[in-house]
Amino acid sequence: MTDLTIPSTPTRFEPPADLAASANVTAEAYARAESDADGFWAEQAERLTWAEPFTQVLDWSDAPRARWFVDGKLNAAYNCVDRHVEAGRGDKVAFHFVGEPGDTRDITYAELKDDVSRAANALTSLGVGSGDLVAIYLPMIPEAIVAMLACARIGATHTVVFGGFSAEALASRIEDCRAKLVITSDGGYRRGAPSPLKPAVDAALSRLGGQSPVDHVLVVRRTGEYVPFDDATDLWWHDVVGSASPEHTPEAFDAEHPLYVMYSSGTTGKPKGILHTTGGYLTGAAYTHHAVFDLKPDTDVYWCTADIGWVTGHSYIVYGPLANGVTQVLYEGTPDSPHRGRWWEIIERYGVTLFYTAPTAIRTFMKWGREIPDTYDLSSLRLLGSVGEPINPEAYLWYRSVIGGDRCPVVDTWWQTETGQMMISPLPGVTAGKPGSAMRPLPGIGADVVDEEGRSVPNGSRGYLVLTKPWPAMLRTLWQDDERFVETYWTRFADLGYYFAGDGAKKDEDGDIWILGRVDDVMNVSGHRLSTSEIESALVSHPRVAEAAVVGAADETTGQAVVAYVILRSGDGNNGEALTQELRSHVAKEIGAIAKPRQITIVPELPKTRSGKIMRRLLRDVAEGRDVGDTTTLSDPSVMALIANRDTESAGA
Ligand code: WTA
Repeated sequence: MTDLTIPSTPTRFEPPADLAASANVTAEAYARAESDADGFWAEQAERLTWAEPFTQVLDWSDAPRARWFVDGKLNAAYNCVDRHVEAGRGDKVAFHFVGEPGDTRDITYAELKDDVSRAANALTSLGVGSGDLVAIYLPMIPEAIVAMLACARIGATHTVVFGGFSAEALASRIEDCRAKLVITSDGGYRRGAPSPLKPAVDAALSRLGGQSPVDHVLVVRRTGEYVPFDDATDLWWHDVVGSASPEHTPEAFDAEHPLYVMYSSGTTGKPKGILHTTGGYLTGAAYTHHAVFDLKPDTDVYWCTADIGWVTGHSYIVYGPLANGVTQVLYEGTPDSPHRGRWWEIIERYGVTLFYTAPTAIRTFMKWGREIPDTYDLSSLRLLGSVGEPINPEAYLWYRSVIGGDRCPVVDTWWQTETGQMMISPLPGVTAGKPGSAMRPLPGIGADVVDEEGRSVPNGSRGYLVLTKPWPAMLRTLWQDDERFVETYWTRFADLGYYFAGDGAKKDEDGDIWILGRVDDVMNVSGHRLSTSEIESALVSHPRVAEAAVVGAADETTGQAVVAYVILRSGDGNNGEALTQELRSHVAKEIGAIAKPRQITIVPELPKTRSGKIMRRLLRDVAEGRDVGDTTTLSDPSVMALIANRDTESAGA
């Protein structure tokens, strides 16, 4: 995490007067939600179109397993697409798609409805139906969204795997959720060149061999590059979906029907399959998108730069915004391709009004210099959002001033894959935001900062971030691992019934919340969640590695960076740079390029307690250049001197 020094008298920015005067949500919402939570959420659920009404807002009798909008039935794809067409808005653009090479495509809601219907018919013809799992491994192209909505339309549960993950990571997810179908593409464009995807699917399936649950691989043609094709399993999207009928009647599913599983890193080597269901999730995503972005669907043009492979893409590109019927930008590529002004050029071209991105990106643009955004007309913007990691006040101020022209409020939104929806955030028409603070729980949300015993800490103190009451988009369980669900989130403060978020936080003198970062062995690199132990297992799977310890060290651009300490197998000579390069590539192969350590130091020993637990705190101190302080709990205190030495050597190298 970047060093977050909380100023004693933070700057505050009052909401712009015109925004406050016409805000979607005003201050009264907090009290109303507080006095009647069920009534408040029932009202938000009415944003959706229900095929059958719910009879109860929340059934919490089997806590922490929630059932929201009991007995209600709906179709998520109908809510995101058809109903806008039926209301006469079929000609409205759903997506301005911008491909990295410069190709563009506007897709209206009517066209999206036809595409989703065709894909739904195609999936049905391939034997996919309600209760089946479909893995989606695609770049940021419209077909990714069509595939997700087609699954939702027929009651199949999707699991989108980020295109940056490796074949190994894909295989373990396919295996864990027993996906019947994989939807992928020949490749996508990344930094000006085609980058293949299908070969990773082939490698994943051949790794699974006879254990593979996959019947078919549906391949979108994006780059036109050659890909090996197996006629027994592989099918082209344009053949199967292209020839399917655009007529499809959506079926209504129970509010608790599984909508998707999103794998996310936890504190062990095995990713957690976070399950989201339909009615509550869609309600939470749609309401927060309306409230936090002050969305005016008739006039706003919204752009969220997240990848579809992460929860932000699910809640705030697909489900929330489409349920709200907005026009958005969808961009395939990187911010610096073909030039470093690409994002600002897109904002200017489409007149983007609401923009949602991550602090890492903002810090990168700061490094590139304000001259770049300054050459574009960004005056269409009226609100800026931030997500994924703590935004340091400096980055917030730059974002607000350089991108937002000192007129756009910044909403720093705290939430997680598990929460499904934003939880702590300013309301742009109400809150006087402070740079660096996510401020207060949104209306209807209960959050607090507590001590070890679960007692609310006084203002001015630090503690653990907890969520004190259920919310509609909450995860329902971990896929096929309900025990781990209870253990991970609900046992730490079991007596109080609190959800333990895994983040540390501080309440300032006004009681506003500042998120300090993870308190567990989860890192946050460029807003992506990575587990220390997952990377450690990847390193140890290399034949030359005996032991590994991984820590997240503060990094100016990426928030945290992966730093690894490795012990080689005995008798194995250290051949320096070549070996560390090989280990970095090995991690990329096992997990994905995002997990590659920034630095690997070969060490003779690791600092361990007498019970054999690695003291990551000490390694973090070394990695961040601090004095390691008290080492008396170590079984061998002299090891820290050895490690500190190696670290200076490798840093100098
Ligand atoms: C961190 C991303 C500070 C936090 C939506 C959380 C944040 C983890 C913020 C979840 C924020 C997310 N300020 N930290 N505004 N937003 N985080 O599951 O540590 O990829 O627990 O969800 O990101 O990451 P995830």
